[in-house]
Amino acid sequence: MNQSELQRCLKVGQIAACEAGDVLLDYKAKGFKVSKKGRVNLVTEADLASEKIIMSHIQENFPDHQILAEESGNQSGEGEVKWVIDPLDGTTNYAHRYPCYCVSIGVEADGIMQVGIIWDPERKEMFTAVRGGGAFLNGKKIEVSQEDSLVDGLFVTGFSYDQEVIERNLVLFNRMMRAVRSVRRDGSAALNMSYVACGRFEGFWELSLHPWDIAAGSLILTEAGGKLTRIDGAPTSIYDSELLATNGHIHAGVSRILSRKSAD
Ligand code: IPD
Ligand code: CA
Ligand code: CA
Repeated sequence: MNQSELQRCLKVGQIAACEAGDVLLDYKAKGFKVSKKGRVNLVTEADLASEKIIMSHIQENFPDHQILAEESGNQSGEGEVKWVIDPLDGTTNYAHRYPCYCVSIGVEADGIMQVGIIWDPERKEMFTAVRGGGAFLNGKKIEVSQEDSLVDGLFVTGFSYDQEVIERNLVLFNRMMRAVRSVRRDGSAALNMSYVACGRFEGFWELSLHPWDIAAGSLILTEAGGKLTRIDGAPTSIYDSELLATNGHIHAGVSRILSRKSAD
C-alpha cells in the first residue's frame, strides 16, 4: 500500500471509530440488551450496532477489502488488505458501566499491520499509528517508558473467559505481583496495549487473545518503540493468542519470570 492509500485508511478508520464510539455512548445513555455468549462472556446490542457502523464505512469506501470483525467473523473481499475490528473491546466493563472500553480497528496488508486506530470515547483519547510513521495520542507523538527496573514498573494483564486459562494466568499474576510495583487488570486489551505505548504501563501480558483484541494495538505499540513477543520471548503475530507487550527495556526480565517452569 502506498502512503496515500494508508492515509485514506487512517482517515476512514478514524471517522468510523468516532461514529462507533458515539453509538456506544448513546446506548450507554438509553440502555441496551445484553446476551451471554458463554458462561460469563457477554455481547450487547451496542457491540453489534458499533460493528455495523464500522463495517458500513469500510464497505462503502473500500469494497474490495476483506474484513475480520469479532461479531460477524470473516467477510471475504478479494484484495490483500484486511480490516481487523473489535467494535467494543471491554464489553464486560461496558455492560457494568465501568468506563474502560474502546473501539479498535487495524488494517493489515499482505499479513503485515499497516494502520492502527484505538478510540476511547469516555476519555476522548484517539491512539493511532501508520507503519513507519510513529504512534500518536490525539495527534501528539507517543513513546514507551524508559523504565528498566521491574520493581519500579506498573504492569497490566487480562483474563480470558476460559476457566482453565484463568487458572494458568492466576499463577503468573501471583508471580508478577511479587516482582514488580503492581499489576492492574482492567478489562480492555486494546487500551492496555495503548497505555504501554504511551508509557502509562511498562508491560502487558495475556494468555488467550483474538486477532481483533490486538491488531491495532500491536502496531501502535511497536511504532511507539515497544516490543511484542510470545510469553517466552519467541516471535508472535496477531493470530497467536498469547502475548507479552512491553516497553522493550524490561522485556527479557518479564519473559524470564512469566515463562519459569516452577509451579509458583
Ligand atoms: C476482552 C478484553 C479483555 C481481555 C479478554 C478479551 P471483549 O475483549 O480485551 O481485557 O482480557 O481476553 O476477550 O470480549 O471485551 O471484546
Ligand atoms: Ca476484545
Ligand atoms: Ca469485543
